[in-house]
Amino acid sequence: MTHDRSRPLLAGNWKMHQTLAEARALASAVAAASRELAGADIILAPPFTALAEVRRALAGSPVGLAGQNLFWEEKGAFTGEVSAPLLKDAGCSHVIIGHSERRQHFGETDASVRKKIKSALQAGLVPIVCVGESLGEREAGRTMDVIAGQLEGGLDGLDADEAGRIVLAYEPVWAIGTGRTASPDQAEEVHGFIRGRLEESYGGELSSCAIILYGGSVKAANTCSLFKEKDIDGALVGGASLEPGSFIEIVREAIKGRKERQ
Ligand code: PGA
Repeated sequence: MTHDRSRPLLAGNWKMHQTLAEARALASAVAAASRELAGADIILAPPFTALAEVRRALAGSPVGLAGQNLFWEEKGAFTGEVSAPLLKDAGCSHVIIGHSERRQHFGETDASVRKKIKSALQAGLVPIVCVGESLGEREAGRTMDVIAGQLEGGLDGLDADEAGRIVLAYEPVWAIGTGRTASPDQAEEVHGFIRGRLEESYGGELSSCAIILYGGSVKAANTCSLFKEKDIDGALVGGASLEPGSFIEIVREAIKGRKERQ
């Protein structure tokens, strides 16, 4: 799946939720609604256990499939890990990398993010690379420094061709799962900053085409205003993607916001 900035990209991050039966029902509902939501690109990121089930439920629909994480080695004695080629084989087009929950609870660093990006790209997966500041960092006025550091550390060594194949997601840690969404102005400020950093590193052609998602308590009520911002190209949706009605409504609102932007 390649992306076009004029179409909003909505990714549902199911985190550690959904039994097979729940996953099947949710994915089937999103697949059925996708005909009516043709103005957006949609991706679902179920837990590994449900990838095959969701793939079957999405068959014949344009909805894409993503992993929530990967290990950078191709194969080998790495009990409990899943590689990029295995995700590709399971039908994934995308993989989330460097989510703040992985940085916080599982020791993910910019160095591991970098290795994961490389292995995802090598397998032909689109990495969705997450960056974001904590509340303390924002309150200390360090937001842009933190984002710049994560971009530099995570993307270090990528050439323009590689950088051009990734999707970035700005997810302020204080907004994830808290119900406290960044305001459209706060999000746009950081999205514009990220685009500016991409321009400095890779030039204007790449930065003007780069897809930058917002994540953190996205819900239908705040989607339209976020999508009117010029540098917000999509959303990574956690809690509100677990219920078909709210996720589908978010996609609708994103399409609406995008139309009002143009
Ligand atoms: P949330 O999660 O929408 O539940 O805040 C977003 C994310 O962590 O990707």
